[in-house]
Amino acid sequence: MEKASDFLVIGSGIAGLSFALSVASRGTVRLITKRDKRESNTKYAQGGIASVFSKDDSFEEHINDTIAAGAGLCHEDVVEFVVKEGPECVKELIRWGVEFSFDDKNHIALGREGGHSRRRIVHVKDVTGSIVEDALIQQVDAHQNIKVYENHIAVDLITLKKLLKADTRADRCLGAYALDTDTGEVHSFLAKKTLLATGGAGKAYLYTSNPDVATGDGIAMAYRAGAYIANMEFFQFHPTCLYHPKAKSFLISEALRGEGGVLRLINGEPFMERYHRMKSLAPRDVTARAIDSEMKKNGDEHVYLDMTGIRPAFLKERFPNIHGVCMRYGIDMAAEPIPVVPAAHYMCGGIVVDDYGETSIKSLFVCGESAFTGLHGANRLASNSLLEALVFASRISNKASGDILHEKVRRYDIPLWDVGSAVNSDEAIVVSHNWDEIRRLMWNYVGIVRSNKRLIRAKKRIQNLQDEIKEYYWDFLITSDLVELRNIATVAEIIVESAIMRKESRGLHYNIDYPAADDAHFMKDTLIKV
Ligand code: SIN
Repeated sequence: MEKASDFLVIGSGIAGLSFALSVASRGTVRLITKRDKRESNTKYAQGGIASVFSKDDSFEEHINDTIAAGAGLCHEDVVEFVVKEGPECVKELIRWGVEFSFDDKNHIALGREGGHSRRRIVHVKDVTGSIVEDALIQQVDAHQNIKVYENHIAVDLITLKKLLKADTRADRCLGAYALDTDTGEVHSFLAKKTLLATGGAGKAYLYTSNPDVATGDGIAMAYRAGAYIANMEFFQFHPTCLYHPKAKSFLISEALRGEGGVLRLINGEPFMERYHRMKSLAPRDVTARAIDSEMKKNGDEHVYLDMTGIRPAFLKERFPNIHGVCMRYGIDMAAEPIPVVPAAHYMCGGIVVDDYGETSIKSLFVCGESAFTGLHGANRLASNSLLEALVFASRISNKASGDILHEKVRRYDIPLWDVGSAVNSDEAIVVSHNWDEIRRLMWNYVGIVRSNKRLIRAKKRIQNLQDEIKEYYWDFLITSDLVELRNIATVAEIIVESAIMRKESRGLHYNIDYPAADDAHFMKDTLIKV
């Protein structure tokens, strides 16, 4: 079935929802999301939104911290406008109903995280993302111009080039095919403007802080459609996820270190002073690598984050979620150190967009973790991601909705999704096996520390898996699992390819065969295109 609107939004995290709200007064919006509308990376963001609200802080310092974390690759013009436009976007969130934490002087409360020289993280205790998500969904649900389709996974973009099967110079996005996972039908969603806000791809790795939905769908779809993808070698590993046999993907926010938490070895020795002048508050790339190196050197399965020097009542009040979850696993963080390990957390690369979020394919916009704007460089500064999503959602809404009502878009006959001779698969085990193999090989060969040999090995394995998936994909009727497997394999292949191209170590990309940064050759982004 065909469904048309002015705007199509794919994804229901902060990027998709805030964009939908910004454009809804100017046109009709259809928003598709592959599971429950609350399920997104945003919901699990604990830290908050980095923005200049204190009189002790300045735009200049936030800009400098972002650039320092980015290890020479941030696009400085983008850093400048994102930092400067940040406070207004945070105020818009407040107007949409988000109640941020306040301090006892009735000022907006500001936390601190790794790499920040000042307190500047606007937050709601340790559940910022979840509260933001709830507030935005409430607004979206109440808006008569926005229709939300849950359990709809986008399968592929519909572009002029694919439709006409011709090499049109100026390609254009016309919408997307999406599978309704309740009925098994594939619908075409057509729109004047399409926004990809599909989030990250942490599920490419065995251990991740991301929820199951983070399968890089937008990256894979845009890549197949011919958009440029950049800097995918820079995958950020969060230094501190809870280490417990029963805890899956639970983040221990960097805000704990901002309040005085100390990283220690199993024997109790603090070790971060050997790696960075900011000690336990060093930027993430340095901290994750230091933990990885200490664990390997000592044969330990985790390190500790020690919060026992902080007042118990404060810990409970400031971090109710983390405190509660740790307690459920039998860890009283006020009395004993928390066992932690690094895990895949955030994709700093993404689909290349301009300063208003548009890709090289006209009318296709990208916002949030799937976008490559140039803000993060080789390593994202903590809590700059929700900020980027908000600022770009606002910029995109201005560009995309400018003349939408008067825009005449030529109508094309969009073919229905062709199932060909595909039949129902009776081999679901193949999907889960391939999925597992990708995640393991990415963790073992393309993780925090890489080498030429491991990258080449990963490349060969992924190519074999890709061949198998392709065959399987066209023989069997698509399911959500199969769509996600196909996407994660593509994202993994792009990460490996990008990592092979960068023959140096910088920020989040560390290759033991090229242990130093090579400014003469690699002060540039890694670009990939089909
Ligand atoms: C955290 O709370 O540590 C995560 C914040 C972020 O990834 O920016």
